[in-house]
Amino acid sequence: MSNVVLNVIKDEFVLRKADSREWKEIVEFFDTHLHNLYHDPGFVPSSIIRDKVQRGNVVVVERKKKIVGVAITNGETLWNLVVHKEFRRQDIGSTLLKYINPKYVRIKAKGGLPDPTSFYAKNGYKPVKFVQSNVTRKKTILLAAREDICSEL
Ligand SMILES: CC(C)(COP(=O)(O)OP(=O)(O)OC[C@H]1O[C@@H](n2cnc3c(N)ncnc32)[C@H](O)[C@@H]1OP(=O)(O)O)[C@@H](O)C(=O)NCCC(=O)NCCS
Repeated sequence: MSNVVLNVIKDEFVLRKADSREWKEIVEFFDTHLHNLYHDPGFVPSSIIRDKVQRGNVVVVERKKKIVGVAITNGETLWNLVVHKEFRRQDIGSTLLKYINPKYVRIKAKGGLPDPTSFYAKNGYKPVKFVQSNVTRKKTILLAAREDICSEL
């Protein structure tokens, strides 16, 4: 997959498909920007990230050649969305979500920690049901559906 620039958001941010050579940087990004918040390093297995990057299912936002946002999808469902700790609340997450426009999002939240459900609600996703985590095998993932899909469920 070539390193195609898909879109430019604001002046300094570029939204593009991840290059397959970037998978290690993306693994580190997940470990750094989810660490101490929801999950421990390695929560999203590096083999899964590598596979998704190579399949062209990862979109990143970059600023000055540095990744500041990552979204992993399988087309229909958004698997993971993480924004750099220092760049949150600048519309990067919403822009990635709107660009991918998935039917479903998988929300991973633990009690007592910031809950991203309201972020998805603000972007038009409504909770549907809890589904099993591929990592923990427990029903801890809240599946939310895009508003237009909800009427079909
Ligand atoms: C959730 C996340 C992806 C949002 O990305 P973002 O770029 O900060 O979001 P945006 O700037 O596009 O949207 C911000 C709005 O979403 C809501 N929001 C964002 N993060 C939120 C959070 N953690 N809790 C509650 N609401 C949140 C707020 O309404 C906010 O608007 P405000 O700043 O006017 O109050 C980002 O906070 C993040 O990476 N969190 C850690 C990882 C995570 O939880 N990922 C989702 C797991 S399924």
